[in-house]
Amino acid sequence: MKAARFVVRSAGSLSSGRVVPREVEHFSRYSPSPLSMKQLLDFGSENACEKTSFAFLRQELPVRLANILKEIDILPDQLINTSSVQLVKSWYIQSLLDLVQFQEKSPEDQKALSDFIDTLIKVRNRHHDVVPTMAQGVIDYKDVSTVDIVANQNLQYFLDRFYMNRISTRMLMNQHILIFNGSQSGNPSHIGSIDPNCDVVAVIQDAYECSRMLCDQYYLTSPELKLSQLNGKSPGQPIHIVYVPSHLHHILFELFKNAMRATVETQEHLPALTPVEVMVVLGKEDLTIKISDRGGGVPLRVTDRLFSYMYSTAPTPVMDNSRNAPLAGFGYGLPISRLYAKYFQGDLNVYSLSGYGTDAIIYLKALSSESIEKLPVFNKSAFKHYQMSSEADDWCVPSKEPKSLGKAKAAA
Ligand SMILES: Nc1ncnc2c1ncn2[C@@H]1O[C@H](COP(=O)(O)OP(=O)(O)OP(=O)(O)O)[C@@H](O)[C@H]1O
Ligand SMILES: [Mg+2]
Repeated sequence: MKAARFVVRSAGSLSSGRVVPREVEHFSRYSPSPLSMKQLLDFGSENACEKTSFAFLRQELPVRLANILKEIDILPDQLINTSSVQLVKSWYIQSLLDLVQFQEKSPEDQKALSDFIDTLIKVRNRHHDVVPTMAQGVIDYKDVSTVDIVANQNLQYFLDRFYMNRISTRMLMNQHILIFNGSQSGNPSHIGSIDPNCDVVAVIQDAYECSRMLCDQYYLTSPELKLSQLNGKSPGQPIHIVYVPSHLHHILFELFKNAMRATVETQEHLPALTPVEVMVVLGKEDLTIKISDRGGGVPLRVTDRLFSYMYSTAPTPVMDNSRNAPLAGFGYGLPISRLYAKYFQGDLNVYSLSGYGTDAIIYLKALSSESIEKLPVFNKSAFKHYQMSSEADDWCVPSKEPKSLGKAKAAA
């Protein structure tokens, strides 16, 4: 087996799997332009202008796709040459080319505007399975290569940026489709997928119920929810922020599934399960949600790995469509949730008291003026990041982890 390395090649040594059309080279020279929540809302306000949104997206989407394509192109051979990564790459290139067709069109041309919406829908559908396909590519890569520590760190670095890029392009496409496609689907008080008055507690309760249903199906029992809230900004008032409820729901659903699984699996022998406790606080700057369980926690040694793609202690789920969705199993729950939290400048951390339980804390910006897209850009710094080589550690390395505790499927 050959050790996999992230190496940066000169254009002359590009293998055929790395060739990209000149349109990709062109658009990758621009940096993505992050939008603020306010700008996203303005596209959907009363004087919403489809032409402005069209003119912005026909440039911005190719820029974002091209930036991440350049990063795909410096992945190690063993990864980029997997059929899955080749497929993902071909989707990105095709979508970029589809969107570039609109460069010459006038925003005054009604047909161009409606064709653009059709193209966005086509692109969105084409990219539907990007996450499982890329995940399969990573599995195949790890099967054939010995992935050293540096390659592993680079893979984590790449996947965080790749999936963040995907969250952002989906957000932009969805906004345009929802606001301008003419059909009255969706919530009338929302601007596209943004709720200017997002009822945080309602989203928590809904995510809890969804997770509880899965937990009941799988374990025939589930912990109760104990919720408390504090509005430190306007005491006594309900907690509302400007946010994308589907993103918040995604994060909460993942955290509830984890908390419920840990609770049920460690408390099987007890007569009753301890509830999952949630505390929501609105402060001047942050909206903070803490989800606490008494599911035994994880040791500090493992905490860093929780956010690694593919780190999971759950049995590998069977994907035969006839079974219920599993409560856990792919190891993408935490890393993707953290990206959703970070997308509008928030964060997600997990703190464990090993032997007792876990606190997962979501931080979101309370002020929409501070909610600005966090986007990767392919520049010299990113390029250099992939070139880092593994040097000797400047701290003594302790002996290996005890075998009996290493239950993880993949030390991702
Ligand atoms: N609240 C928790 N208590 C104890 N262990 C946890 C908790 N949350 C996460 N973990 C550990 O972290 C691992 C990774 O969690 P993550 O949500 O990323 O993946 P998963 O739950 O295994 O699979 P899925 O992709 O379906 O979410 C879990 O398998 C579990 O071992
Ligand atoms: Mg999970």
